Amino acid sequence: MGPTIMDFKTLAIGPTGLAAQAVDALLLVVTGTALPDGLETPIAVALRDAVDAGDLSLKAGQCLYLHRVPGVKARRVCVAVAADASAKAFGKAVGTGLGTLKAGGTRSLLVAVLGQGGVGGVDAAAAEALVLAVDEAVYVYRHTKPSAAPAPKLASVALACSKAQAPDVQRGLVQGRGIASGVALAREWANRPGNHCTPSHLASEARRMGREHGLKVEVLDRKDVEKLGMGAFIAVAQGSEQPLKFIVARYQGGPKSAAPIVLVGKGITFDTGGISIKPAAEMDEMKFDMGGAASVLGTLRALAELKPRINVVGLIPACENMPDGRSVKPGDVVTSLSGQTIEILNTDAEGRLILCDALTYAERFKPAAVVDIATLTGACVIALGHHRSGLFCADDALAADLLAAGERSVDPAWRMPLDEEYDEALKSSFADMGNVGPRAGGAITAAMFLRRYTKAYPWAHLDIAGTAWRSGSAKGATGRPVRLLTHFVLARAA
Ligand code: BES
Ligand code: MN
Ligand code: ZN
Repeated sequence: MGPTIMDFKTLAIGPTGLAAQAVDALLLVVTGTALPDGLETPIAVALRDAVDAGDLSLKAGQCLYLHRVPGVKARRVCVAVAADASAKAFGKAVGTGLGTLKAGGTRSLLVAVLGQGGVGGVDAAAAEALVLAVDEAVYVYRHTKPSAAPAPKLASVALACSKAQAPDVQRGLVQGRGIASGVALAREWANRPGNHCTPSHLASEARRMGREHGLKVEVLDRKDVEKLGMGAFIAVAQGSEQPLKFIVARYQGGPKSAAPIVLVGKGITFDTGGISIKPAAEMDEMKFDMGGAASVLGTLRALAELKPRINVVGLIPACENMPDGRSVKPGDVVTSLSGQTIEILNTDAEGRLILCDALTYAERFKPAAVVDIATLTGACVIALGHHRSGLFCADDALAADLLAAGERSVDPAWRMPLDEEYDEALKSSFADMGNVGPRAGGAITAAMFLRRYTKAYPWAHLDIAGTAWRSGSAKGATGRPVRLLTHFVLARAA
């Protein structure tokens, strides 16, 4: 998987000048419910005509393609209507517009906002949203499908803005590129099937990233984690032929002594459920069960490019969850790295078992904050659907930072409760805790389980079971929540 090679730039432009630009395509994003005044004649005439003919209605989500508009140099003009002037709506409209442009011969694209102030009216956030929308639209998975449609020819994208806006917009484009590279990496690895994305594959990708981008990467093997005493992680991994890996990847952008942020990603490269085996339908989607791990690698990739002055450690416990003669069995009791014992009542609740040992391991970094990211529960999908990730965090300041980062980056989360009452569900007669509670409130009891391992530092948990991938005909990883995590880290560094 290569990074998207594309040139993003600003084009300082006055209220006129769009029609004369020598580009393959113009993408005009209308942000109001009326066409702005003062548009240059060829564009004004074409848009007015389309509206009057009923071919373009100025409602969010609408999009119209026009070919060879008289007086416009670009052969292709696409008009997309945004819900409002926000970066979020702009990014959405760009995505819609690209749907009609990317399949064709467009190599160079000029994007302009037509708002109430006329042409322009863009800021750093809009620029970032543009890069992410373009990158999302041109991504093609081909690792195990080299015959996939060729990647769009798009090679250069310019965003029209005023001279005064240009420096700000340029900063947004650069930040967008950094984040997009992380999103693409997370998407690509989450998309790879279980036999092409084993714990060993993830570990070598982390090592490769380390060499290429100057991250310190260390990989612990079974012997190492046995010696440490990660009994919960080992219990999950022991049913698989694929050796487990515990990946430690460090981005060092701040002084050595500065307390790092630790990101812990669930790296189940395939989740069959183990002895508590899952039904066959849609089990293929459990290749995405390393989406948390992918988002940690993606975030580190973005940080390596954006170079904020902060330290970040990524921890990834990676293994398969398989049924086998050596598999852990329901009722087995294991001792976690923390010393607490766990009765494994359901081997399909494996994510929390590998995470709890990683969360205990995180203590050695004396972290400023720890965030774990996991496709942890089907219950979270029931609670929040596919739009917002579940955020569990007892620390109000940390929760507020993460929620704000989600809103800013258009990768939103929603806070869920962590009341002590939910902890009751984890009681066991044979160990310090069981690994499951009842079905009701399943996302919360999973978080309560993790909470028992996170008393040494401010901690948050993101359940991304509903947001890490899409099912159905457009099945594929989303790269979430790389945007949220990167914004969170950047804000902490500022
Ligand atoms: N990886 C799954 C969670 C999951 C399921 C994510 C479906 C997205 C879609 C996790 O390991 C799991 O199996 N969780 C169980 C927990 C239960 C046994 C308490 C679940 O959610 O059913
Ligand atoms: Mn499971
Ligand atoms: Zn799982």
